[in-house]
Amino acid sequence: MEWKRPNTITGSAAEGSKYFRREDIEDRLWNEIDKNNHVLFLAPRRVGKSSIVKHMAKNNVHSFACLYEDIESDSSIQDFYRRLCRMTYVALSVVGKNKSLLSKWLKKWRITSIGKEKITIEKNDLDYRKEFFDLLRDLQVQRQKIVLFLDEFPDVLWKIYKRHGNDDAEILLNDLRTLRQTKAFKDVFVMVLLGSVGLSHIVKKVTGRADKVNDLHKEYLYALKPTQAMAFLDYLMKDATMQIDDETKKYLLDKIGHFIPYYIQLTIEECDDLLFEEQRPELTKPDIDKAYKILLKKHQYFEDWDSRLSKYFPHKYAYLSEVLSVCAANNKLTIQEIYNIALSHKNETEWKADLDDILIADGYISDEDDQYQFNSPFLKDWWKSRHPII
Ligand SMILES: Nc1ncnc2c1ncn2[C@@H]1O[C@H](COP(=O)(O)OP(=O)(O)OP(=O)(O)O)[C@@H](O)[C@H]1O
Ligand SMILES: [Mg+2]
Repeated sequence: MEWKRPNTITGSAAEGSKYFRREDIEDRLWNEIDKNNHVLFLAPRRVGKSSIVKHMAKNNVHSFACLYEDIESDSSIQDFYRRLCRMTYVALSVVGKNKSLLSKWLKKWRITSIGKEKITIEKNDLDYRKEFFDLLRDLQVQRQKIVLFLDEFPDVLWKIYKRHGNDDAEILLNDLRTLRQTKAFKDVFVMVLLGSVGLSHIVKKVTGRADKVNDLHKEYLYALKPTQAMAFLDYLMKDATMQIDDETKKYLLDKIGHFIPYYIQLTIEECDDLLFEEQRPELTKPDIDKAYKILLKKHQYFEDWDSRLSKYFPHKYAYLSEVLSVCAANNKLTIQEIYNIALSHKNETEWKADLDDILIADGYISDEDDQYQFNSPFLKDWWKSRHPII
C-alpha cells in the first residue's frame, strides 16, 4: 500500500505547512513590538523559538519592516553591526519603501545583490557600528520602523567575549541599553533577541553582574498546554496512514509528559517508522513504549542539555550534574537533599542561585510542593541512562 508519512519535521525550524501556529505567543511578541519594546525571547534548546519568529517575520501585516536571521556566525562588533545594516537594507527593500535611503546605502556600503534577499556588503573599511547609529537617525527622519529578529544572540555575545575580551562585549551590552533608552531610536528600531541559554548567565560572566539586561522585556516560551498538544498531534497525523485512537493518543502524550513540540514530533516519527516496517497502520501502546526506548538511545537529541552545562558552567558542572543525576534516579529531590549535594561540592554560597538561575530558569527541573522534579520525563530517563548512580 502507499504509505503516507505524518507531517513531521525534526531537523530545522518548522516552516510553512510544517509550522503549527502558536498564536498566543505570537500575539504576546507582537504586542511588545507594537509598544516598541526590545524583547528577549528565551527558551531551552529545541522548544520552538525559531519556528515562531520565522513565521512572524514572514507573515508581518504591520506597517513596519521585519526580518529574521540566525546571527550565530558573527564574532565581532563589526560583524554584528554590519549584519544589522544589511538586514535593515533587506527589510526595507522587501517592503519597497524609502528608495532614496536605499540608494544612498547602496553606494556607500557597496551593496551587491544575488537574488531578492541575498545581498552582501562589499565595503570593509567602514565602522559599521557608527553606520548603524547613523542609519537609525535616517530612519527617524523618515519615521520608518524596522523590527529585526536576531536568533542565537547570546552565542554571539559569548563569542565576542571569548575572542575580543570583556571590553568589546561590554560595548555591545551598553549599546543595547542606549538603543532601548534613547527615545528616538526606540521609535524606529525594535530587536527581538532569541536565545537558548540564559543570556543573564553570560552577561554576569562578562560584567560581573546581570543587571545590564534586566530591563529588556523577557518572554519565555513554554511547552504546549494539554489541549494544544492534542491538537498538535492531530495536525501531524492529518492525512497519515498511521492511525491512532483517542485512548492511545492520550497514552502517548502521558508518556511524553512535557509537551515540547520537538519531543512529540520525534515520537511520532519513530512510531511511524516502526509501523511502516511492518506495513501496519494501527498504533498500539506497546509500539509507543518501544519507540520511546529507541529514542532514548539516540543521544544527539538530548546531548545539548548536558553539554551546555559543562560549556557555560565548567566550575559548577559537578554540582549541577549531581543534582540532576540524583533527581533522575529518585524521581524527586527535596531542598535539603540539594543542599547536602551542594555541601559535598563546597558550593555553600551560590548553590540556591545556581539551582534557581540555571536548572530551573533553563527548564531542567521545577519545584512543586517543595519537591524538585524533571520537567520532561524524556529528559529524566535520558539523564538516568547517561549518568547512572552506581
Ligand atoms: N510550532 C511548531 N510546529 C511544528 N513543529 C515545531 C514547532 N515548534 C517546534 N517544533 C519542533 O521542534 C523543533 C525545533 O524547533 P525550533 O528550531 O523552532 O526550536 P528552537 O527553540 O529555535 O531550537 P534551537 O534552540 O535548537 O534553535 C522543530 O524541528 C520541530 O520538530
Ligand atoms: Mg532556534
